[in-house]
Amino acid sequence: MGVNVALIGCGNVGQGFLSLVLEKRKELEAQGLKINVVAVCDKLRGSAYDPDGLNISKILELASKSEISSYPGGLTGLDPISTITKTNANVVLEATWTDLKTGEPAYTHIKEALSAKRHVITTNKGPVLLYLKELQRLAETNGVEFRFEGVVLSGTPVFNLVRECLPGSEIVSFRGILNGTTNYILTKMEEGLSFEEALKEAQRLGYAEADPTMDIEGLDAGAKALILANVIMGASLGFNDMECKGITGLKVEDLRAALSNGKRYKLIATGYKENGVVKVRVAPEEVPLSDPLANILGTLNAITFSTDTIGDVTIVGRGAGGREAGYALFSDLISLSRKITSM
Ligand code: HSE
Repeated sequence: MGVNVALIGCGNVGQGFLSLVLEKRKELEAQGLKINVVAVCDKLRGSAYDPDGLNISKILELASKSEISSYPGGLTGLDPISTITKTNANVVLEATWTDLKTGEPAYTHIKEALSAKRHVITTNKGPVLLYLKELQRLAETNGVEFRFEGVVLSGTPVFNLVRECLPGSEIVSFRGILNGTTNYILTKMEEGLSFEEALKEAQRLGYAEADPTMDIEGLDAGAKALILANVIMGASLGFNDMECKGITGLKVEDLRAALSNGKRYKLIATGYKENGVVKVRVAPEEVPLSDPLANILGTLNAITFSTDTIGDVTIVGRGAGGREAGYALFSDLISLSRKITSM
């Protein structure tokens, strides 16, 4: 069995995905799955299309020089919409930049792809936060799948974990550390770095958003918590429906005082029910060191799900990075391929 893939956005995440396909291709083919990347389109790096499949090593080499459009053979110079609708791809991976206010350009790309009966996998929080129900309906109407494992905790499983491993359980509430940048800053401040030094380091590591205000004011964690509440707790919440406070008010002395009381400051995102209504809150909290979330350090993320069946389940893992988010696309693609080829 095989799938033809078009990749829209070939930055760190897209390149992380392509590297994984290269690395794992033989293994997957031995299991009977052939991933054919037929088209790549990136606003800054160029585009290339070959209906028989692109040479991935060549694309990676050209992407690093922003010269994908000089790909030898095949067709170059396609725009994103033509790449989605006019190629022989049956799966579109959307990995362009995130805009939490408009969801664009990913929202348009995803709508075009679903309307053209392409399955869609994305790591982009914007459209999932703003247009989840509409996009799910569009996918259903067109008989295709819409997957987005990577929008929360990147490649560390969250939605697939709940769907595949906790079937029949109700997620009563969740608490998590959903933003790597702020967790890194808090960890480094405990070690003696200033807020500004720690933020600069998180930016150098490539964790912070293009506008780091989204991280430090809690909005990135908030967007992820809202998506979790909407997907796994059946809510329909937007930015205006949550309480949100970031970490900018915290000082090194606050962190040290908490530690001397056996606690650690963490930016905690919570989804819970109050009188049957789902609520979301993001705020710095003093977490006792006996709580698993207190020991999540650096850029790691974690979520504790409270279930009505087996109590608390905690998952810990990396929540950002090109390879990690690329793996989210890759893992969604493998499970999607298994599903569509068994139908
Ligand atoms: N800026 C985000 C973080 C990236 O620090 O967690 C992953 O969504």
